[in-house]
Amino acid sequence: MAAPNVSQSKTITTGSNEIDKKLGGGIPVGSLVLLEGQSDAGKSVLTQHFSHSTLKSKISVACYTTENTVKSLMSQMNSLNLDVTDYFLCDRLRIYPIEMAAEDSDTAEAFSAVKNHFAALPVRFELIIFDSLTGMVAHADDRGIIDFFASCKKLCDQGRTVVAIVHSYAFNDQMLIRVRSLCDAHLVMKIDQLGERLVKTMEVAKVRNADQSTGNIISFDVEPGIGMKIIPISKAKA
Ligand SMILES: Nc1ncnc2c1ncn2[C@@H]1O[C@H](COP(=O)(O)OP(=O)(O)O)[C@@H](O)[C@H]1O
Ligand SMILES: [Mg+2]
Repeated sequence: MAAPNVSQSKTITTGSNEIDKKLGGGIPVGSLVLLEGQSDAGKSVLTQHFSHSTLKSKISVACYTTENTVKSLMSQMNSLNLDVTDYFLCDRLRIYPIEMAAEDSDTAEAFSAVKNHFAALPVRFELIIFDSLTGMVAHADDRGIIDFFASCKKLCDQGRTVVAIVHSYAFNDQMLIRVRSLCDAHLVMKIDQLGERLVKTMEVAKVRNADQSTGNIISFDVEPGIGMKIIPISKAKA
């Protein structure tokens, strides 16, 4: 059973009740979300679920991507049965492919361009996804990174939800603690070896103001035509 509309409008969900429950009922609107993980752990797929489900609940979504073109992102989402073509065509979904500049480029300028771009989005774009910040973060100084997250936080205080994806290696421990403390939600995705088998896991490290308790770890797989599918622990261990 889907949750009532009222609560749907207040949370960003995946569209899977099972996974949303693990997120404490969904990510409260107005959250700054740090989505961290290694390559192939499912970061992009998770945000594709967020996008699809949010668009369905009549909220517009802006996706910034360093990993995809418009075409490749749409066909990736199609492959998971998360078709968003109609939303894209009626300007409810915007996709901004970002080309990472050369290593010696000015990251302060890049951060400020992104900040300004976020701020200039029409207000109806309540969900903003940035996949991924790794390249920008890698060449930035600590101050620049903290300032960027702080400015995202300001957008969230105005009711927007911002999901920032980073590869785990992008931050050292100290930086991770500082960024994490600025964020309302922190999700960590990994690939774990369970016996012979590799399983993807998502740790819901923190979700501020969640309806239900968080701190869960789930194991999941990504299946064609379905997307994220929870693997029951007993099965994952088998
Ligand atoms: N249509 C699909 N069918 C099967 N597996 C898929 C499909 N789309 C993505 N995947 C798999 O999902 C996993 C997670 O991918 P992704 O979310 O892109 O990882 P990340 O963004 O963390 O690097 C990858 O192993 C990828 O191969
Ligand atoms: Mg990705």
